[in-house]
Amino acid sequence: MEIKRAAVIGAGVMGSGIAAHIANTGVPVLLLDIVKPGAADRSALAKGAVERLLKADPAPFMHPKNARLVTPGNLDDDLGALSECDWIVEAIVEDPKLKADLYTRIDALRKDGSVVSSNTSTIPLAMLTQGQSERFKRDFLVTHFFNPPRYMRLLEIVAGPETRSDALAAVADFCDRRLGKGVVRCKDTPGFIANRIGVTWIQSAVNAAFDLGLTVEEADAVVGRPMGIPKTGVFGLMDLVGIDLMPHIAKSLLATLPEGDLYRRLHREFPVIQRMIADGYTGRKGKGGFYRLNREGGAKVKEAMDLVTGQYRPAERPRPESVAAAGRDLRALAEHPDRTGRYARRVLAETLSYAASLVPEIADSIVAVDEAMRLGYAWKQGPFELIDRLGTAWFAELCRSEGLPVPALVEQAAGRPFYRVEDGKLQYLTTGGVYDDVRRPDGVLLLSDVKRASKPVWKNGSAALWDIGDGVMCLEFTSKMNALDGDTMAAYQKAMTLIGSGKGDWKALVVHNEGDNFSVGANLGLAMFVANIALWPAIEEMVEAGQRTYRALKYAPFPVVAAPSGMALGGGCEILLHADHVQAHAETYTGLVEVGVGVIPGWGGCTEMLARHAANSRGPKGPMPPVAGAFETISLAKVAKSAAEAKDLLYLKATDGITMNRDRLLADAKAKALALADGYTPPEKPAYTLPGPGGKTALDLFVQGFALQGKATPHDVVVCDHLARVLTGGPKTDPMEPVGEDRILKLEREAFMALVRHPATMDRIEHMLTTGKPLRN
Ligand code: NAI
Repeated sequence: MEIKRAAVIGAGVMGSGIAAHIANTGVPVLLLDIVKPGAADRSALAKGAVERLLKADPAPFMHPKNARLVTPGNLDDDLGALSECDWIVEAIVEDPKLKADLYTRIDALRKDGSVVSSNTSTIPLAMLTQGQSERFKRDFLVTHFFNPPRYMRLLEIVAGPETRSDALAAVADFCDRRLGKGVVRCKDTPGFIANRIGVTWIQSAVNAAFDLGLTVEEADAVVGRPMGIPKTGVFGLMDLVGIDLMPHIAKSLLATLPEGDLYRRLHREFPVIQRMIADGYTGRKGKGGFYRLNREGGAKVKEAMDLVTGQYRPAERPRPESVAAAGRDLRALAEHPDRTGRYARRVLAETLSYAASLVPEIADSIVAVDEAMRLGYAWKQGPFELIDRLGTAWFAELCRSEGLPVPALVEQAAGRPFYRVEDGKLQYLTTGGVYDDVRRPDGVLLLSDVKRASKPVWKNGSAALWDIGDGVMCLEFTSKMNALDGDTMAAYQKAMTLIGSGKGDWKALVVHNEGDNFSVGANLGLAMFVANIALWPAIEEMVEAGQRTYRALKYAPFPVVAAPSGMALGGGCEILLHADHVQAHAETYTGLVEVGVGVIPGWGGCTEMLARHAANSRGPKGPMPPVAGAFETISLAKVAKSAAEAKDLLYLKATDGITMNRDRLLADAKAKALALADGYTPPEKPAYTLPGPGGKTALDLFVQGFALQGKATPHDVVVCDHLARVLTGGPKTDPMEPVGEDRILKLEREAFMALVRHPATMDRIEHMLTTGKPLRN
């Protein structure tokens, strides 16, 4: 079965987000809600939801045009249209009775072979299908998305005993390849995997903070980063999702969890928190939460809730001694004798022993549990990986000393780790007590697996070269934040030397890494340091080396495919501009942001953007439109908020590929590289027709207009002056004579060097390094 048309019922927070994300795949989707009593427009709820989607930040749509694929309607007039849908997602209020009534109505209308799924977060599938037709039971499953559906990678999927295996396979495949989700099979148990463990972790951490007298900042400083958990910890996380949601989840879990479940024993209510909810202090969406930004009196003061007095006070940035002393050693953290160490100990013991006690009840393997916590709660490591950091034997002792039962799986491990590497293969301990390979689905290739199984072909301080099979080499950035420097360029050069003509052992190069961000650009700290000691020739050499390298990659006799995910900024964007093909993860955020730090793109970014705008047949003819287009994009430091938007901005070519699932990115890039390697010829060097001084005058006028309106700062004007000079070809250019790219590259270098010597540019760089934000000087 192929999903060609979908419907989502319930246009609330989740339903509208799911509809938007289905539209992101290009599949048309019907979005239905109830008729609001008294509303003039009977589809007002769904229509309002689409309007909100278009305004939401971060954007649920990967491109605003995707909104056209969402057709809003209502359940009274438009239910008939369900007969055309292959997949119907129910995302209405969490009420079994209302859901059951809706299913009966849907079932009468939907076509044979269609699939219905519920986004319920707590109601068991068995309860949802009670009283429904046999046909309905065969075609029904639970697809549990996390909020917000575009960005949260986890999708928990539950099939009932009667669910057709082909229905399950079709939906799972769509969610994996098209929606890009990490699909985790769960059993039909309350809260499935992630929320069952996550909510218990939160409860444990809140209880222990009250009992041991920790402040919210101290608690988050312990259960956040040191445990590989986002720095929001627990209190910050509750602020994010809404503190008022917690009692609802608790109520529903308590109604369904088995007797004797640890969560039942841990569940407690705290008057301070109850009062916060009652008074509207529900977190970021409310008047504030455990943290708030107080804007009274003009200044912005970060405040935190005092758990004892229930009053706000200025927030602190504690660095608990246990955390400072332990570093990355989780066991040392839990062994530390002070309050915060005892806190870590108790939360780890309760949370991890609970998780370990739930396999195989909630999932067939520990791998699914770890994956669910990584993708659903953004933990760097799942519970079993965390237990391995502590050691299974040590952890068993911890459980005993904390008065907790030692989970059967931990007993069975008998000191062995839950994961091990055997012959370069990652293996996990099965519930049967033996090791088995962690298997990746077809079409998934992870650089981390390659790295476990082999040694790098070559590496230096900023990059490594890997053999990813079939004659394809992968260049990985390994520097801090994947910033680019001389070593990165040396690695490219080495790759080119090794691959040679592309006719020997090596055929192609893929540039890819598994960092949160592909690359945030050139190493600014280094640039600042070199500039501070006025080592201008060194900076000039950095610019030249970058240009030389990127050029060489572009005209290399073998194909180069870049496979970015996350941010690809500045020099990180320029590598995309020089690749033969970009296979981008859909969540790629790319742009030439150099003007933000007072310079212009100097590694060929200006030149390539000119070429792209000139080749963009959609635009009007003549030398000026491409220049104006490139000028606008670069001078405004535009950053695409998705791969789809990057195509609009011409950072990506129309022919570049987009992969929705990050785990499939490297395999897709490799396949493309091999396809290109067959009969590969490098691109021809283009000639540019540039407007020269006349064009520059036009751009200058434009910038002056902006400056007069207060939209361009004094240093913006200086930077734009240089940018305009480069893009129009400099004072000697004649619009009748084509210009070679070497000339434009030289102009790029000259402009870059002039700007980097400017004190206002240094101020911008320093500001960026210290605050992470651009300075508007
Ligand atoms: P919501 O309250 O934002 O939206 C619910 C929508 O259902 C509303 O638009 C409402 O008009 C509509 N509705 C109410 N009664 C209806 C009926 N009889 N027939 C059709 N539509 C009706 O709720 P939210 O948060 O979007 O939750 C929807 C579902 O998703 C629930 O089952 C919830 O448990 C689940 N869920 C929620 C998550 C979250 O973070 N909010 C996360 C994952 C799952």
